[in-house]
Amino acid sequence: MVEKIKVERFTCWYYDVLALQAITLAVHEHEILGIIGPANSGKTSFIRSLNRLNDLNLTFRKQGTVLLDGKDIYAMNPEALRRRVGMVFAMPLSLPMSVYDNVAYGPRRHGRRGKKRLDETVEKALVAASLWDEMKDRLSDSALKLSGGQQQRLCLARTLAVEPEVILFDEPCSGLDPISTAKVEETMLELKQKYTMVLVTNNIKQASRVSDRTAFFLSGELVEIDVPSRLFVTPRDKRTEDYVTGRFG
Ligand SMILES: Nc1ncnc2c1ncn2[C@@H]1O[C@H](COP(=O)(O)OP(=O)(O)OP(=O)(O)O)[C@@H](O)[C@H]1O
Ligand SMILES: [Mg+2]
Repeated sequence: MVEKIKVERFTCWYYDVLALQAITLAVHEHEILGIIGPANSGKTSFIRSLNRLNDLNLTFRKQGTVLLDGKDIYAMNPEALRRRVGMVFAMPLSLPMSVYDNVAYGPRRHGRRGKKRLDETVEKALVAASLWDEMKDRLSDSALKLSGGQQQRLCLARTLAVEPEVILFDEPCSGLDPISTAKVEETMLELKQKYTMVLVTNNIKQASRVSDRTAFFLSGELVEIDVPSRLFVTPRDKRTEDYVTGRFG
């Protein structure tokens, strides 16, 4: 299998507070890697480090490397990196504009202007985010009028519209009802054929439903990484077992 992202001894701090300790792991091409762990275990710090969103934080310091297709991401242009590695956040951050303009926002920023090509891009992204049927007659409606679940898939469509290779999700279903959650999960499974995904979730059942492998983080450390059928059933580490059986966290 191809290692799309390779993280080697990645350690980071905010001020002098250690947030991640020597994390070493790979994300395989076309897999969904789940990341679980209690609050403050470093999950968000970890995925934000994969597309350098922490760069904007002046108190952030790091050591170690993150390679994308074998190239050091911290030696790349951050904008170019974020086009290849997109992010979907916990709270859907729809822009106060139409559904169409939300999806076209990224491509326009990157210089795509022609109406026909933009139309195609918008449709393709909405189809991929399982939102086209619901939105095709509402493209000029304000995005803020959509339901939470629709807005979350709209954010996914916005990310897909710039045609990334990797998509990072930070608890994308935390504010969603079970039906919307199921739709997002179904969409992620369909996207696997084309994309590589990392899914931070505080929902252990979600990790076992959709991830190909799951990593368990605790206090900034990677405790264990394995396929769900082992991690959730016969974990090697006592700390993993305590967490997945609900004894803490
Ligand atoms: N911007 C920041 N400034 C200072 N400290 C931070 C910042 N972001 C995170 N931290 C600290 O880094 C550690 C890891 O936090 P992080 O947000 O990565 O955890 P998490 O596993 O995503 O938690 P949660 O489940 O609550 O989202 C915590 O001790 C947190 O307080
Ligand atoms: Mg977090």
